[in-house]
Amino acid sequence: MARYPQAAGFAGNVSARPTDQAAGLAAGKTIFLPLSLVPDAIRELRQLFWHGKANRLSRDDPVQWEFLDRVEAASWKSSTEQRVVELNRSGPTVKTPNNLSADAPNIYPGQPRAGQVIRQRRSALAFDGKTSISAGSFFTMLARVMPRVDRDPCQRPMPWDVLPWEPAIHLALFVHRVDGLAPGLYMLARDPAKVDSLRRAMHPQFAWTSPPGCPEDLPLFLLQEGDARQLAAQVSCHQEIAGKSAFSLGMIAEFESSLRRYGPWFYRRLFWETGVIGQVLYLEAEATGVRATGIGCFFDDPVHQVFGFNDVMFQSLYHFTTGGHVEDPRLTTLPPYGLDH
Ligand SMILES: Cc1cc2nc3c(=O)[nH]c(=O)nc-3n(C[C@H](O)[C@H](O)[C@H](O)COP(=O)(O)O)c2cc1C
Repeated sequence: MARYPQAAGFAGNVSARPTDQAAGLAAGKTIFLPLSLVPDAIRELRQLFWHGKANRLSRDDPVQWEFLDRVEAASWKSSTEQRVVELNRSGPTVKTPNNLSADAPNIYPGQPRAGQVIRQRRSALAFDGKTSISAGSFFTMLARVMPRVDRDPCQRPMPWDVLPWEPAIHLALFVHRVDGLAPGLYMLARDPAKVDSLRRAMHPQFAWTSPPGCPEDLPLFLLQEGDARQLAAQVSCHQEIAGKSAFSLGMIAEFESSLRRYGPWFYRRLFWETGVIGQVLYLEAEATGVRATGIGCFFDDPVHQVFGFNDVMFQSLYHFTTGGHVEDPRLTTLPPYGLDH
């Protein structure tokens, strides 16, 4: 791991090693944590060689998506953000169990261990169209994707402390089978301050009522009751996985305002944020005893019509579905990596 060179504004060497950071903090020092990759580390990586041979996935010639090359060029980031967060003992304290080994007692008795959940995670290939989840599990899963924007970035709950920008993705939900909740369309505003701008951008007839039992600090709203199973599948390139699950969702980006604020390169950061949300939901689904699948194939214009978005202020970037899965007998499941890998 590279050491950072002395740089203007940095009080001493800034190291990316968590152990160096922790030792410095323990010794009462103020730590400056850069929120960008260090140019020296990138230069070092450039000297490395790629070994191996990529598998050919298809016998056909790959489709040339020239449009994507244009998107890549247009969203290229050519400058470095010099953002640094300052940590000291009076700042955020991170409580870490002393012993993180597999033999350590489970600090959440009755809950599966993180390692187990991470290793067992698989994408569901099909859902059973039957399994429901409890409203409590649904609220817990959604609470886990709340970045708590009221806090400083480094005090936000893990993993939202790794994204050094203000969250710009909200969830438009198709709820099918959540016990105690009416099926229909729902909205989760990941930043409570954005509820009004979302509301103004969406269909005026939506209800915007808090569902029964919803925790007070969870900005989740019922928009419209109804059977959204077929609709969810249709807008997801006719994939049944979006309608036969317990719920599916579209990740709605604050699109135009983010690109204007930061520049075209932020297009990729919006996708990074959707990716983190997806990974959290994948693990939460496994921890709850159900399964999930990312949905990259969806029709964005019909999704926007369903929710009432009619310009580029908001844009759906990635979809997701969660529910009781059906095992696919064509797949072989091998034991996961050992703990020492
Ligand atoms: C960004 C993304 C988009 C995906 N889109 C779809 C999709 O549209 N339909 C689908 O059936 N699976 C989709 N998947 C699931 C992938 O097929 C699955 O992740 C892949 O087969 C690897 O399996 P694993 O997640 O169990 O490791 C998507 C996954 C990701 C991460």
